[in-house]
Amino acid sequence: MKKVCISGSGLFTPAEAVSNDELVATFNRYVADYNQQHAAAIGAGETSPLQPSSSEFIVKASGIRSRFTVDKTGILDPQVMRPRIEKRGEGEPSLMAEMGAAAALQALENAGRKPQDVDSVLVACSNLQRPYPAIAVELQALLGTRGFGFDMNVACASAAFGVQTAVDAVSRGSSRATLVVSPEICTAHLNFRNRDCHFIFGDAATALLIEPLENSLSQDRFEILGTRLQTQFSNNIRNDFGFLNPSEQPPRRWDEVLFRQEGRKVFKEVVPMVAELLLSHLADLGIAPAEVKRFWLHQANLGMNQLIAKRVLGRDANETEAPVILDEYANTSSAGSVIAFHKYHRDLAAGDIGVLSAFGAGYSAGSVVLRRL
Ligand code: COA
Repeated sequence: MKKVCISGSGLFTPAEAVSNDELVATFNRYVADYNQQHAAAIGAGETSPLQPSSSEFIVKASGIRSRFTVDKTGILDPQVMRPRIEKRGEGEPSLMAEMGAAAALQALENAGRKPQDVDSVLVACSNLQRPYPAIAVELQALLGTRGFGFDMNVACASAAFGVQTAVDAVSRGSSRATLVVSPEICTAHLNFRNRDCHFIFGDAATALLIEPLENSLSQDRFEILGTRLQTQFSNNIRNDFGFLNPSEQPPRRWDEVLFRQEGRKVFKEVVPMVAELLLSHLADLGIAPAEVKRFWLHQANLGMNQLIAKRVLGRDANETEAPVILDEYANTSSAGSVIAFHKYHRDLAAGDIGVLSAFGAGYSAGSVVLRRL
């Protein structure tokens, strides 16, 4: 089995950002309009009035201050409250493939590689804009990579599952180099009219190039010391959008097939699951938690990440040890931990250990232990 490394990473960030204040202003306009339209029913006690949102709550409960998105105008229009995306013809690249290609080209450049050096492309993300042809196969054509590509979905943990799949292929020699690409248009599966979660998500795309250590040309690389994955069924985060929706009787309402969660339960149940996964993985690799210099954690909730790092280290972690990008990007699902890795790895010294961990719906969680070369 060949030793394997991450030899390059890439990030695509959409041009438009939406602040909490902008988002809350639209939400509260919608609430005021709704309550006015239903004033008689509310007055008669037949309907409950909707409650306003607040930026203070969002920052306090989640740590999120802003998010990037593929379309700000639609999201902030109280009559629309969703991103509006121009329908593209079959001859044009899909939006997800286009975002993924931007991140992938950057990862290749950082690794000193050309698309022809790559044998496989995995698109690993939460939401795929169509079932087939696979976005990964489209991306393969757009980039000009060789071999094969396929899509995989393990929700917010997708990138970690993609890395393990890539490691398996590259270490056994069935792929000379594999791109793990995570394009996420999370704002399109978010109900911007739901006060509990309207602030949660943002859009972005990431890419990692995985190749054998012995072949790598990169000066900026991390050996993958080990990967470990875990899943445990839960209904606490669900997305029921699917091809059976039109056939179901009675049909589901539009807001029943968007993202929803029991945020508090998720927080309580996922923190111990991930902390135990990281501790057992490090122990089996013979690495003491105190040796870990950096945690690139899934970016959903600041308090959750602080607690996970604390449980692993046995003390509070500072922002250098567990960098935060969710304040600026919000939850970008599978892209989040890779954005943290992409932005915060260059200062590590040779030999330093870092752990990339992605977790979310399923539940699903992954641990990738890395050593800076
Ligand atoms: N503005 C103002 N108040 C709000 C609000 C909003 N937008 N949304 C909810 N509230 C209120 C609630 O009504 C509740 O009021 P009450 O105490 O009077 O009943 C209170 O704030 C607390 O609500 P709750 O939903 O319990 O908040 P929370 O502290 O659990 O934070 C999340 C909510 C979603 C930010 C948090 O639970 C979370 O991030 N969990 C982890 C989720 C996760 O990791 N998911 C993975 C997805 S991939």
